[in-house]
Amino acid sequence: MSTRTARAHGDTAGPSRIVIGVTGGIAAYKSAIVARLLMKAGHDVRIVPTASALKMVGESTFAALSGHPIHTTVWDDPEAVEHVRVGVEADLLVIAPATANTIAKLAYGIADNLLTATALVATCPIIIAPAMHTQMWNHPATQANIATLQERGVTVLEPTEGRLTGADSGVGRLPEPEHIVQAALGLLTEQDLDGQRYVISAGGTREPIDPVRFLGNRSTGRFGVALALAAAHRGAVVDLVACNVDEALRPHHPLITIHEAGTALELQEKMLELAPGAQALIMTAAVADFRPAKMTGSKVKKGRKAPDVELVENPDILKGLAADRSHGAFVVGFAAETGDEQGTVLDYGRAKAQAKGADLLIVNRVGETAGFGDVDTTITILDSSGEIRAEHTGTKSQMAGVVIDTIFSVRKGV
Ligand code: C5P
Repeated sequence: MSTRTARAHGDTAGPSRIVIGVTGGIAAYKSAIVARLLMKAGHDVRIVPTASALKMVGESTFAALSGHPIHTTVWDDPEAVEHVRVGVEADLLVIAPATANTIAKLAYGIADNLLTATALVATCPIIIAPAMHTQMWNHPATQANIATLQERGVTVLEPTEGRLTGADSGVGRLPEPEHIVQAALGLLTEQDLDGQRYVISAGGTREPIDPVRFLGNRSTGRFGVALALAAAHRGAVVDLVACNVDEALRPHHPLITIHEAGTALELQEKMLELAPGAQALIMTAAVADFRPAKMTGSKVKKGRKAPDVELVENPDILKGLAADRSHGAFVVGFAAETGDEQGTVLDYGRAKAQAKGADLLIVNRVGETAGFGDVDTTITILDSSGEIRAEHTGTKSQMAGVVIDTIFSVRKGV
């Protein structure tokens, strides 16, 4: 049990396979939130409830949430040898809530349901969040079983104090889902960015023309969000400056604080405010190069003379952050390029690397079908002299891992 160590950061680019074991405590409903948060953090989640857990939360809830079928015994789908497959493939097993009964079975190696059988097969890190009545928790049998599991390397999240089932209260409550998720994610990855703060801008600015119209772009913010998660999974505190990022795409991670910025000027103000003391500033946001010189106070109506929209240039935020290094942070920029008859994507990327003065420039190819939204993307990472430091194709979350790895190695001078 729990003999395999957490994966090194180089392996963490893709989603991890996380098994959530749910046992029959009253707090079983909170496991649905744990599952949701882990999925939001970009992981593939499988839920393995015990039969008692299904008396608390319906099978359909778990199936619909995780997108995987739910089984409780090894006899549900014997030809698939589910307990071996799920257990062997897991990168992490989280049991929340863990009842005294299941804790005892884990301590003694009893495998009488799919969850306990899975735990016996798993070689990945295991974290359990016990929840039970105070008397059961304090009982010497439970405490001895907990000590046995800890000796074997299982991480035990201490239950908290508070209201239990019914009118009683005491030690035995399940920790909050966010706390469980933070502890679980910490086990998945080497915390090599612990103690560091990354400021990441994401999305696209919108420059108002009138109260209902704006000059904008097609950037969704996915890359910035993926970068924020990749950094947070490795222990960095992240300030994510979200420029018009859709609610559904926003990450929920205890180490990520989201700040709002709508326009280029608002983004610049936020970046300058957050930069001092940060270790890295990453500008993934697509910033409008121009903004209307003035916003009309009321909606521009048709049927009258078509308005002349005078544009003024926005500040180049990245260039400014790269030029004035009083903040002390490593500066990373993005270049979304299409290439044309006068130059390739890389030609334009190299020119931009020189012009911007950032420590790294992530060049990616964009177009009608490439680069924007939920599609694979190709990136080339250039340093300030235009030299290629990395080149990869894959999902945005895989690419985010590559970017964080490259920042890590270039900062260390590797
Ligand atoms: O010049 P271009 O828009 O292609 O540069 C892209 C990079 O510069 C991105 O990192 C973007 O966030 C940043 N940028 C900026 N301020 C601008 C325009 C772009 O910080 N006004």
